[in-house]
Amino acid sequence: MKIDFGITLGIDLGTSTVLIYNKNKGVVLSDMSIVAVNKDTDEIIKVGEAAYGLLGRTTGNVVAIKPLRDGVISDYEITKKMLKTFVDTATSQNNISRILFRPSIVICVPCGITEVEKRAVVMAAEYCGARKTYILEEPVAAALGAGLDISKPCGSMIVDIGGGTTDVAVISMGGIVESSSVKIAGDKFDEAIVRFLRKRFNILIGDRTAENIKIRIGTLSSPSKDDTMDVRGRNTATGLPMSVKVSAEDLYEPLNEIADTITDTVCMVLEKIPPELSADISERGIIMTGGAARLKGLDKYLQNRTGIRVIVADEPEMCVAKGTGVAMDNLSELSKRAE
Ligand SMILES: Nc1ncnc2c1ncn2[C@@H]1O[C@H](COP(=O)(O)OP(=O)(O)OP(=O)(O)O)[C@@H](O)[C@H]1O
Ligand SMILES: [Mg+2]
Repeated sequence: MKIDFGITLGIDLGTSTVLIYNKNKGVVLSDMSIVAVNKDTDEIIKVGEAAYGLLGRTTGNVVAIKPLRDGVISDYEITKKMLKTFVDTATSQNNISRILFRPSIVICVPCGITEVEKRAVVMAAEYCGARKTYILEEPVAAALGAGLDISKPCGSMIVDIGGGTTDVAVISMGGIVESSSVKIAGDKFDEAIVRFLRKRFNILIGDRTAENIKIRIGTLSSPSKDDTMDVRGRNTATGLPMSVKVSAEDLYEPLNEIADTITDTVCMVLEKIPPELSADISERGIIMTGGAARLKGLDKYLQNRTGIRVIVADEPEMCVAKGTGVAMDNLSELSKRAE
């Protein structure tokens, strides 16, 4: 009989969001990957959503930092402290003393990251008090979290579009057969909106506003000029505040460019796999996960380009975290992969 006194946590350390999964309890924490820091003293002022409120609005020596960029840790010191705050919050609801029983942590990484980047993730988990750390590739976690049975010799394709990276992978018998990871995902749609509005309307807007526009009226399927939104920002010529009306139709071109690059990556992976797996995928469809999978019409767009049915997973932004929960039932299998 296997006795496990400690708790096991699964972590999706994302560019936009950090999710923590607690075995038997589900997702116990979901917060933004942002930290507000006093740049003179390096003191952390706020973490997560509370820090997001300060983004673009900070004064003097307080800066809001996104410590992960393009799916990997770009500021190690800040990341590990941010993660520790989240892990402490997630485990504080637990009665078990974390000093006596340190958690085992299953933490996800995008495929194709370097050994150095992977090491930084493991060290961040250890800083949070991990007794043992297991690494799980994000597409595998996403597939498990989307409810796919990946243990069989049958191909499944996962397209996980987060904030910083798009991971495309074909999985069979629990492992990745072919994959590609590009640093083009949800955030790039926001940046495209910022660039477009500056060029077309001479209006400068921040990342938060761009993300709101994308979520409210952004679409890659039948954009209407009647679907509009009033956008406030700064006139690039006068420097004064201004407001413009932007329509879904206006945004189509800039969003289309980014969707095209993502689709190219999917096509590239499809071209590389053996025909048997292609047949499996065209039968089962492509599964889309990650928060940006919610972008309206992106599924149809990918479907039209590939000719393969595209299915957006339920709660796509939660799939990776939920997948860590499924993987926890097979930790011995995972530990082999971690080494
Ligand atoms: N309804 C929506 N429509 C369009 N985009 C959305 C929507 N909801 C969330 N997003 C986008 O999803 C992205 C975040 O997704 P997710 O939480 O999966 O990222 P992440 O896991 O933190 O990032 P990564 O995996 O790249 O490190 C953001 O770009 C966000 O703007
Ligand atoms: Mg992610």
